[in-house]
Amino acid sequence: MRHVVSLFDLSTAEIEAIFAITHDLKAKHAAGLRESILPGRVVALLFEKPSLRTRVSFEAGISHLGGNSLFLGTEVGFNARESLADFGRVISQYVDAIVVRAYRHDTVVELAKHCTCAVINGLTDYTHPCQGLADLYTLRELLGKFPGHRVAYVGDANNVARSLAIGCARLDLPLSVATPKGYGYDEPFLARLRSEVPNAKLTLTEDPAEAVRGASAVYTDVWTSMGQEAESQRRLKDFAGFQIDAKLMALASPDAYFLHCLPAHRGEEVAADVIDGPQSVVVEQAGNRMHVQKGVLTWLLGRE
Ligand code: CP
Ligand code: NVA
Repeated sequence: MRHVVSLFDLSTAEIEAIFAITHDLKAKHAAGLRESILPGRVVALLFEKPSLRTRVSFEAGISHLGGNSLFLGTEVGFNARESLADFGRVISQYVDAIVVRAYRHDTVVELAKHCTCAVINGLTDYTHPCQGLADLYTLRELLGKFPGHRVAYVGDANNVARSLAIGCARLDLPLSVATPKGYGYDEPFLARLRSEVPNAKLTLTEDPAEAVRGASAVYTDVWTSMGQEAESQRRLKDFAGFQIDAKLMALASPDAYFLHCLPAHRGEEVAADVIDGPQSVVVEQAGNRMHVQKGVLTWLLGRE
């Protein structure tokens, strides 16, 4: 059984296979067709943190595919009442897949070790692979083929930025990342990325203008992620000058797109006139979460 704990778990060919399924399912969904590809399949949703997009897009997508989802929240005692090993071995007998959103990445890694059903990471402090897949799928839809394009990410090199970097590397899309000093990617992550994708075209800078200049798409995420609330005042100061505003956006390609995983904080990482302006594709990007996750579930479970 395969797991998707991070995008390192998927090869380029596997991501392309998921995108092909996604393309087909998205077209069918637009035409009003709901193919019952996963009848009788059950997916548990274990969430330690709040969620709109991940939770609802998985629940809706599973319904479209004829399967069932069980939203378990934390009331089943996940990561509290018994060992992750016991939890994983038991729940694997009941369900076909688990989507898990956890504070600590290690929780998902440990759970996956003991599960004989598929484990899909629905966000941890370290990565957000479903978001990364939706981001790359959205960019593929908007840009077509990637040669000649480059994405800029400005902000915190967080879970979303890690998944974006792996996705861009796997699909050979150059990425420029601008972070304040002390908020860049951790060295172990960069070492793994270089080792898994030696030809990754990743540029790192502390200058947002340098990253954004000439980019085909500009991406940002919140400065304070879930679980980091105690640092929010310090982060507000440290990220000053890293807001995507109209002036910064003007340095990108004239037809550049603005992306954000949402939820967003207008006036912090992005100015309202950018996220609500004509270059913003954040709503379509969020919509693609559902289509891509249907692709992932069909790829993981539809062949059994
Ligand atoms: N982008 C994203 O994962 O949103 P939620 O936190 O609402 O799931
Ligand atoms: N980096 C954000 C993403 C939310 C979808 C967080 O972890 O809170």
